[in-house]
Amino acid sequence: MTGRKTEVNQAAPQTPTQSPSSLQASPARPADTPFRLLVLNDMHVAMPGTPYHHRNTAAIFRRTLETLCRSRRPDLLILNGDLCATVPDPATYRYIARLLHQLQLPALALPGNHDDPRLMHRSFPHPAHVLADQGAPLVLTCPDDPYCGWARLHDWGITWLNSYDHRVSQAQLDWLQDNAAHLHADHGNILFIHHPPAAVPSRFMEAHYPLYNRDSVLAAIEQLPALQRIFCGHYHRSYEHPRLPLSMVNSSLYSIDPESPNHRVLHHNPGYAWIELTQGLHYTVAELPENMLQG
Ligand SMILES: [Fe+2]
Repeated sequence: MTGRKTEVNQAAPQTPTQSPSSLQASPARPADTPFRLLVLNDMHVAMPGTPYHHRNTAAIFRRTLETLCRSRRPDLLILNGDLCATVPDPATYRYIARLLHQLQLPALALPGNHDDPRLMHRSFPHPAHVLADQGAPLVLTCPDDPYCGWARLHDWGITWLNSYDHRVSQAQLDWLQDNAAHLHADHGNILFIHHPPAAVPSRFMEAHYPLYNRDSVLAAIEQLPALQRIFCGHYHRSYEHPRLPLSMVNSSLYSIDPESPNHRVLHHNPGYAWIELTQGLHYTVAELPENMLQG
């Protein structure tokens, strides 16, 4: 597999965080067996016969997923928002859900600004159920929003937030602030959110579609114990933040030129992230060759 990539290893905290007594031990899993996550962002799937950016994006999504799953069998897929091309479409959600079923691939489908969480809920299992099925002994969700929650999975904390309307709701922020101090996991926390909760260089996206309340969101996120990394997308570029533990994963469909004031498509190399969770966090942010999208 070729393409641009960033590989990073992060050691787990030197002193494991003590879990609250209410948490139970995770199911036994050999320490050297990684839990493998494939992350795709901004798939913008349109149904066949409805080209998006002159592309059959349903076929591209299928090919991307099949290629990545063939080469590296993930334990869990994270669809980190913008599953739909333009407007939320129940047929698109059904198409993606069918494909996941065919590939027998458990998936956490999270909403982006081109999605409707209420429609997604009809086609995809609740994130809490997905993580419980993966063996998470404790899953907590925001009472006001199932697309906001936390799970302790193989001694990692996995948090997800809903930014579908370009902000994280006050209900989610309140929930996170009320619970953050208790969201302990031995190896620390990783977080998935569609929008970047901090400024990322991209002239067009920063000017038109930032996360509106990102300062409040970042302040709440930073309360998570032993925060290891935030994975986001939305800006259609790969980026490693120089000061924050924040990785932006490029769209699995096309890149937007970060230097342009306009929505200028730069290339169509599908981006993805590969995460392996063991005692530490190992992740790769990469892009596949463009030629896999032809045909
Ligand atoms: Fe987006």
